[in-house]
Amino acid sequence: MNVLVAGGTGFIGQYLCEELHERGHDVTALAREPDPDDVPEGVETAMGDVTAYDSMEGAFEGKDTVVNLVALSPLFEPKGGNEMHEKIHTGGTKNCVRAAEEHGVDRFVQMSGLGADPDGPTHYLRSKGRAEGVVRDSDVDWTIFRPSVVFGDGAEFVEFTLKLTPPVLAPLPGGGKTRFQPLYVEDLVPMLADAAEDDEHVGEIYETGGPEVLTLAEVAELARRARGQSVRVLPVPMALAGVGLTVAGSIPGFPLGRDQYRSLQVDNTTDHNDVDAFGYDEDDLTTLAEYLDVTPVI
Ligand SMILES: NC(=O)c1ccc[n+]([C@@H]2O[C@H](COP(=O)([O-])OP(=O)(O)OC[C@H]3O[C@@H](n4cnc5c(N)ncnc54)[C@H](OP(=O)(O)O)[C@@H]3O)[C@@H](O)[C@H]2O)c1
Repeated sequence: MNVLVAGGTGFIGQYLCEELHERGHDVTALAREPDPDDVPEGVETAMGDVTAYDSMEGAFEGKDTVVNLVALSPLFEPKGGNEMHEKIHTGGTKNCVRAAEEHGVDRFVQMSGLGADPDGPTHYLRSKGRAEGVVRDSDVDWTIFRPSVVFGDGAEFVEFTLKLTPPVLAPLPGGGKTRFQPLYVEDLVPMLADAAEDDEHVGEIYETGGPEVLTLAEVAELARRARGQSVRVLPVPMALAGVGLTVAGSIPGFPLGRDQYRSLQVDNTTDHNDVDAFGYDEDDLTTLAEYLDVTPVI
């Protein structure tokens, strides 16, 4: 199979390109400035910007399947402001779907996120929700994934949590009680690859999460434990969220905007964990504590 992974040089993209390549497929990673060193040996790269149709549509020629991983992080305020979410997620997906349709690509796997909803509480979730609508309304055979946060080597979530929660005392909104269901990248990519290969996943929306639900405070505790440190989370009432924002905003290189702060107050867990559609039992999946090689939070 000839597969185009849009966003294939990113965190999840690199693992997925490797998985697909190991399964014997011809794989091309599309990005704005792809560095061949960012993809495994044997994976091709193509240059293109999903917000500029003419720059990227050629990469879709001759492909059987497209996986769209292009996105902005929900955790950092984008350069150019929050309107960029709409431009990249919704506009970029429109261009990818159009290019797939025009080049006769059969299969389209769309990476979304838990809580994606055109009426959602953040720019990220609204634009992701609209992007899902674009995919569902298209002529391609689609599959949509909505993962919780993904961890593994190269991920930003644990590092981000460490920045947000300095050792000893960390002020987090709502006491860090927002719930996440972290999923290990090496558990996720075989599911993405199966969806790219198998017709049985066409027309499905999969909510995927890891084996356990952890609060942000617990993620912080595990991350600090892995560094031989401890952290005590201070509850910050919602009304004082702006104070936390100011504190976070004062950390150099830490562009946490209001939208991103809001996203840390939205639970990120599955209603039903659809990993079973890929033959996984939740208990088979890697926990964050196992990955970090620390004792779990009880
Ligand atoms: N990581 C998580 O915890 C998580 C959780 C839930 C859902 N997801 C979703 O999973 C997908 C992949 O996430 P990730 O963490 O792997 O993202 P990532 O590391 O930020 O990678 C994004 C990729 O998209 C490319 N890209 C960005 N803007 C582009 C543009 N305008 N045109 C073409 N390529 C562009 C980037 O390369 P260049 O910058 O070089 O162009 C990079 O290859 C996203 O849809 C994300 O929303 C991730």
